[in-house]
Amino acid sequence: MRLVPFALERWMTTYETRVEYDLAESGIHPLTTAELLAFDADPERRMRELLAIPLNYSEARGTDELRTRIADTYRDLTSDDVLVTTGAIEANYLIFNALLQPGDHVVSIYPAYQQLYTVPEAIGCEVSCLEIREENHYQYDLDELARLVNTRTRMIVVNTPHNPTGAAMTAAECARVYALADSVGAYVLADEAYRWLTVDGMPLPPPFRDLGPRAISVGTVSKPFGIPGIRIGWIAATAEIAARCWAYRDYTSLSPGGLSDYLACRTFANREAILARTHAISAENLRTLRAFIAERGDLFTWVEPRGGLLGLLRYHLDMPSAVVANRLAEEESVMLAPGSAFGMEGRLRIGLGGQPERFIAGLERVDRFFTRLRDEVSDRGL
Ligand SMILES: Cc1ncc(COP(=O)(O)O)c(C=O)c1O
Repeated sequence: MRLVPFALERWMTTYETRVEYDLAESGIHPLTTAELLAFDADPERRMRELLAIPLNYSEARGTDELRTRIADTYRDLTSDDVLVTTGAIEANYLIFNALLQPGDHVVSIYPAYQQLYTVPEAIGCEVSCLEIREENHYQYDLDELARLVNTRTRMIVVNTPHNPTGAAMTAAECARVYALADSVGAYVLADEAYRWLTVDGMPLPPPFRDLGPRAISVGTVSKPFGIPGIRIGWIAATAEIAARCWAYRDYTSLSPGGLSDYLACRTFANREAILARTHAISAENLRTLRAFIAERGDLFTWVEPRGGLLGLLRYHLDMPSAVVANRLAEEESVMLAPGSAFGMEGRLRIGLGGQPERFIAGLERVDRFFTRLRDEVSDRGL
């Protein structure tokens, strides 16, 4: 299998350890281990338990405790329906490899986290893209999906809430996607990396897996809980699909790290409190960003996110987004991800998960940079 370079990840690694203000980051300001355990009623006891875990290979599918805690967040699932993975990225990779064959037809959301269409392509599938467009206010066009799906379609790949636009499906839209897949005997792979991440408290629909056995939900602790470093994600499917993905995983990462598995269990035990922290950070940054865009409408416009932690800023200058993003990083030490990494030229992706004071300071530099850039462009008579 030949994989093409992952454009966004390559770009992020160029700058993420060098810049002062990373406003491109897709997650929430991360917790330390001590901060995570402090959500517990007895943090000292938890720290002792953590330090006493033997550094052995841990249970290959994830511990029964962790799989049960994850299963409990879905309707009628048991721990056998869940496979713990090395982040959502491995979950998606395993599902594609375990369930798809060369020549299968796949419909995938676009733009998207790149693996969602490039891994099926690398397997040799015929991939049709379901585009999310700004002129539709980043709504999922399910009439177009109905036109793209055919009797050879083996999988429909969606991501809700969506990276990079912040789009989010309604319950009725999820049901329609499931019905379309069911009508042709296809699976739905729902990348729900941004699950639980509401905007303005607007409720999100239940996960896709609750709709039936053709839906496979992918989840992660990375985005909602601010702990991407523990690299814990999961597949919530049927026991049969989870077992097929597990067999593939014997060739990739074998088992989750035991320390990570333990920390993920403590995270689920304190889920609501940790999510409250996440929502407080993202809500504050959203308020800041709304005020910024209202003031700088001459420079930026956007379609507000309906869920998740991300949005796309359209900038009103005729300059490629890669040039803008590189110069912003070099000249102001601020990262905003270039839309070109998603095939969305003229836009920059912004994340709402940074520390609120740093988010404000970073935006001040963005303002300074774009004011300078506009003067430069008008001096050149462009
Ligand atoms: C849509 C989507 N899926 C999967 C991932 C991978 O997440 P994880 O850290 O769980 O591997 C990301 C990370 O940015 C993402 O945005």
